[in-house]
Amino acid sequence: MTTPKTPVADADAGTGTGAATGTDNPAAAAAAAAFAAAYPVRPVPAPGPVDTAPIAATPAELEELDSLWQAVVHETRTRGNDIHLPISLAFAERLCRAYPEADAELVRVATLLHDTGWAHVDESRIISEGFTGDWRKATIRYEHEKQGCGVARRVLPGLGYSAEFIERVCAIIDGHDTRPVAQSLEDALMRDADRLWRFDQAGIALASSWFKMDPATYTDRLATEIIPELITQAAHDMATADLNRSTALLKTAVIR
Ligand SMILES: [Fe+2]
Ligand SMILES: [Fe+2]
Repeated sequence: MTTPKTPVADADAGTGTGAATGTDNPAAAAAAAAFAAAYPVRPVPAPGPVDTAPIAATPAELEELDSLWQAVVHETRTRGNDIHLPISLAFAERLCRAYPEADAELVRVATLLHDTGWAHVDESRIISEGFTGDWRKATIRYEHEKQGCGVARRVLPGLGYSAEFIERVCAIIDGHDTRPVAQSLEDALMRDADRLWRFDQAGIALASSWFKMDPATYTDRLATEIIPELITQAAHDMATADLNRSTALLKTAVIR
């Protein structure tokens, strides 16, 4: 795929510091600025291999996370998390192979846990508030991020993760939907993995129903709104390949 390379400074042009970093927290703003300075070209080029095959070809493979899955089975039963999280984790592992300088364990754990907070908010408001209107700013979006951090702090200590690692996980989970910019490469890879699952047929089937869109409308939106949000070149390439496959399979050019 040929995506124009955009310096971050240009991408953020016209926004004030607060809008660009999405936080009033000076440490978080500094982290976002440091990440932008360290990775000035967007989408971020991939130094490692980029696999654009269907994600089913490479399921999440690292069995050391099985105990973490078992600790959050309850949380996977809300909002399709038992589909969304494993597919996102598979994309996260694939992205980490494309960006070997990232802390892969941090990306994997944050991705696995990022939406577990949906299980601890008012379920009746998830679709009515979390997927309609200006859904990225819905109160329930902030709540699911905070609750996700609560899940991480509850389950990770007993599995041997250090307090410092757990806080790095929470720094990624907190704001993963509502903060407009990434604060680290690991944060960026989690965000891209979270979006990539939507391009797989399972993601289209589930998410189009949440947004009450037919598949053609939803895949149009993936192309115009979600692909431009992807931070890494590897994610762009994976999303484009998946979108081409999915729209052909679902015949969205005709069924619209
Ligand atoms: Fe989320
Ligand atoms: Fe998610």
